Order: sequence, then structure tokens, then C-alpha cells
Amino acid sequence: MPNNLEGKVAIVTGSGRGVGRGIAKLMAEEGAKVVVVDPGVNVDGTGFDQSIAEVVVGEIRDAGGTAVACTESVATMEGGERIVQAAIDNFGRLDIVVLLRRDPARPHGVQHDGAGVGRRDRGPSERTFTVVKHACILFRQQRSGRVITFSSQSGLVGNSGQANYGAAKSGIAGLTKVVAKDMGRYGVTANAIAPRASTRMIGAIPESAAEIRARGGVASLSGDGGGDGELQNLDPDGIAPFVAYLASDYASNVNGQTFLVYGNTVSLMSQPRPEKAIWTESGHWEMDELSARARGYLTAGIANPAPAQQR
Ligand SMILES: NC(=O)c1ccc[n+]([C@@H]2O[C@H](COP(=O)([O-])OP(=O)(O)OC[C@H]3O[C@@H](n4cnc5c(N)ncnc54)[C@H](O)[C@@H]3O)[C@@H](O)[C@H]2O)c1
Repeated sequence: MPNNLEGKVAIVTGSGRGVGRGIAKLMAEEGAKVVVVDPGVNVDGTGFDQSIAEVVVGEIRDAGGTAVACTESVATMEGGERIVQAAIDNFGRLDIVVLLRRDPARPHGVQHDGAGVGRRDRGPSERTFTVVKHACILFRQQRSGRVITFSSQSGLVGNSGQANYGAAKSGIAGLTKVVAKDMGRYGVTANAIAPRASTRMIGAIPESAAEIRARGGVASLSGDGGGDGELQNLDPDGIAPFVAYLASDYASNVNGQTFLVYGNTVSLMSQPRPEKAIWTESGHWEMDELSARARGYLTAGIANPAPAQQR
């Protein structure tokens, strides 16, 4: 058995299915003791099925690993605290938190009616925070820890028809960078993954999202909503090795980064940085001068990702 995570304790939320299941299993194979967190909800966030987490725990134990099931939800601060407590109660410590669970509040699809945007329930960033907050209290005391969150290309580059989901996933990427800067001094790292994988989530994307993109001449930018069939051969277990690497001691200096992971490819995403700048000698801009300089340099040649179409 490999042992790159020997002696470590990992919480993997949403690991009863999909991408998380492969991560929990690989981390256990690498020697970590794993808390498999999953209340076994439906794609729309309803329901409860404790067997979903228990099956993965059974698979880990059958393979000689160590794991316990936890059916707490990350949707509340109390749930986040109980999840962290489950690691302490069962294994006496916590080293790694991987936060995958998906937003049940209309994660994908067309939300032009604002129903998804205006919902008052917690967004995924807040749900991710419920575990991160409690884990970071421990990580700060022990001066070590790993936080690995799941964002999406939908939030990083924008995907038409996914307003709620894109905003939430962008929030997770931002939260991760803040945690990285807050916690880096305590020996903790936080990084985000934007995955592409064939899971049940992809089956839940309404065709209407792809149709709207096609009608508007907008290309699919991400794996979660493309509707273009490119995901068909993307094994969800393929995400796990890079997550395990980030969780290991080998990645102790990798902090505040975002990685696109799919199939046989792992990409380091660029960080937003000023690309071009203009300034005025007079201290404040007049519209005419600004407009001319913007057209002549700052905004010259920028391609519109969703150009206007003929009716
Ligand atoms: N699959 C993709 O191509 C893709 C693309 C971009 C981003 N992502 C992101 O990757 C992550 C994993 O996606 P997936 O495709 O494996 O999804 P999935 O639906 O297959 O699995 C998500 C799991 O989370 C569990 N879950 C739901 N609510 C929970 C809660 N409140 N507390 C704890 N667990 C909960 C579910 O029961 C489910 O087992 C998500 O954050 C998703 O947004 C996936």
C-alpha cells in the first residue's frame, strides 16, 4: 500500500458519490484515515440516504483502509462543527479538509427568472465556510493543515445560463484565496480545484442552458454545463490523484492557487492581474480623454465572448 498520507486524518464532504468518492478512497489507500461525509441527498438537495456514505466506508475498509461515515450536512454552521468533531472523536486529529458538496439550489441551468439568484438560503461559499471555519481553528493551533475546495470553470470564466452556480463557484475561489492568505502563516494551505468529470451532476444540467448558449453563439467554457458531450469519457476518479498530492507534505508551498483538473490533464490557472493600464497627468479623467485612450489602447482589440446576433 502507498503511504503518502500516512498518519493524516481527512474529512471529505460530499464523498458518497461522484468526484468525492474517488478522493476519499484514494486518500485512504494513501494511508489517511477518512471521514466520509455525505447525507445522501438527491440532485435537488432533497432527501436523505445514510447508505450512500456507508457504502464508500465499506469499500475503503474492504480494501484495508480506515474510514467512518458521517451523514451531517455542511449546510449549517452546527453541521460544519459536528463534521470536524467527527474527525476528532474518531481519529483524534484533523489534517485535511476537502469540500466538494454541490449546491442543491438550482446549481445549473437557466435562471433568467431570478429564482436562483434571489434565493435566501445559504450559497455554497457559506456552506464551504461552515467546515473551513471550524477546521481552521484546529489548523491554527496545530500550525498545519490543508483546505481543498471545489470551484468550477463556470465561476472562473463564466458560463451562460448558470448565474447562481457561477456566482457561488466564483465565491468559493475567492474564499479559498482569502483562507490561503489568512492561514498561510500558520503552515496551512488552501487551494481550489475546477474539475470536469462525468457524474450525476452533469446529467442534471438542463438542455436549455446549452440551447441558450447555442442560440446566442456563446461557446461552452466549462465542463459543467457544456452539453457538448466532451465529458463522456471523463472518469470522476481521475480528479483524486491531484487532490491527494495537494493534501500531501509534497505540496506544502502550494497555496492560494486554482487548478483545472480533468481526464489526463492538470492545469494551473492564472491569477487575475492588471494587464494594461492608462493614467492621466491631470489627476482626474475627463470623459473625452478617457474614451479616446480606452478606445486607442486599453479596450482596443478585446473580443466579446457573447457577440450580438442578428434576430
Ligand atoms: N462534475 C463536474 O464536471 C464538475 C464541474 C465543475 C465543478 N464541479 C464541482 O465538483 C464537486 C463535486 O461534484 P460531483 O459532480 O461529484 O457531484 P455529485 O452530485 O456527484 O456528488 C455530490 C455529493 O455531495 C453530497 N451532498 C449534497 N449536499 C450535501 C451537504 N449539504 N452536505 C454534505 N454532502 C452533500 C451529495 O449527496 C452527493 O453525494 C461539486 O462542488 C461541483 O460543483 C463538478
